Amino acid sequence: MSNRTITVFKGDGIGPAITDHVLHIFEAAKVPLDYEIFNVGQAEYERNGKLVPDEAYASFDKTHILLKSPITTPIGKGFRSLNVTVRLKYDLYANIRPAKYNDAVPTPFKGVDIVTFRENTEDLYVGVEQKIDEDTYHATKIITRKATDRIIRAAFEYARTNSRKKVTCIHKANILKVTDGFFLDRFNTIALEYPEIEHNDMIVDNVCMKLVMNPWMFDVMVTPNLYGDIVSDLTSGLIGGLGLLPSANLGDDYAMFEAVHGSAPDIHGKGIANPTALLWSACMMLEHIGLNDYAARIRKATDETLADKTCLTPDLGGTATTREYVDHIIARL
Ligand code: NAI
Repeated sequence: MSNRTITVFKGDGIGPAITDHVLHIFEAAKVPLDYEIFNVGQAEYERNGKLVPDEAYASFDKTHILLKSPITTPIGKGFRSLNVTVRLKYDLYANIRPAKYNDAVPTPFKGVDIVTFRENTEDLYVGVEQKIDEDTYHATKIITRKATDRIIRAAFEYARTNSRKKVTCIHKANILKVTDGFFLDRFNTIALEYPEIEHNDMIVDNVCMKLVMNPWMFDVMVTPNLYGDIVSDLTSGLIGGLGLLPSANLGDDYAMFEAVHGSAPDIHGKGIANPTALLWSACMMLEHIGLNDYAARIRKATDETLADKTCLTPDLGGTATTREYVDHIIARL
């Protein structure tokens, strides 16, 4: 049988390097995939005036599976986030971010296992902002039934399939009574279709405090876009940092897998980026397309490398370069 082809976007900052390392590990694990690889992002924009070359989109149109590394997005000016653009263009509505404690990376939060389901297509991220006058600026928050229902159902379906016990809705419906109030109302209605799964809701500020004081009370969380962006980064801090938090962006027809972190300009070019978040995102991709055995082997080799502790990157307290860390993983495959 011929290999399946997937699309790869290399991105900015540490993106190209960690992508190469992940593909190197895949090659060593003999993962039966072929790759169409593209440079995308700010550097590509400066070179060719386009964030994503037409051929890169054409490839994803065809393969339906994308492994994407981080992109630099100008702050407070410049082009719209490519991440948001791709999520909207391919209707990748469910952003799934599993933060699971790993014995190999001790933190004060032993046993934490939280999966965030972040709505990925609307809320304040629709990017509708306007200047009213010199002193007044507006941003539009959009919450629709379609997007709300499908992310809430995705969270409950995940809980059911994976024998999870509880789904928590995160919102700010005490203040945003119409928009978040609707999200919460749909949550409470849809929850009735899943009587075997406990459900509750919490205001986002309280969630942030509880995540630090007692993260074990959370299981699956479902939330509009902005809160999901923020609290999922917080969950990465519970398990050892952004270098360890993977994600899947799923729609009905397309799927994109990326690390939660950004292009990390502060460590770009130093050869010390932790490639694990992208590697575990790539493992989620393998599981999504049915190559579970390959994902399991790579996860095991990574866990062993982390547990060994002689070869960790600086974000995990070590002194190893990315290459040394990756070589250890490959040696254990
Ligand atoms: P960041 O996630 O790039 O970095 C935050 C901190 O975490 C930095 O200290 C960085 O060194 C560290 N870090 C991140 N990934 C790491 C890794 N793999 N190994 C070791 N340390 C790591 O966030 P920041 O600095 O706020 O954003 C930089 C750029 O990335 C911005 O242009 C932002 O818009 C973009 N960004 C892109 C994302 C994406 O493409 N999905 C997501 C988040 C931010």
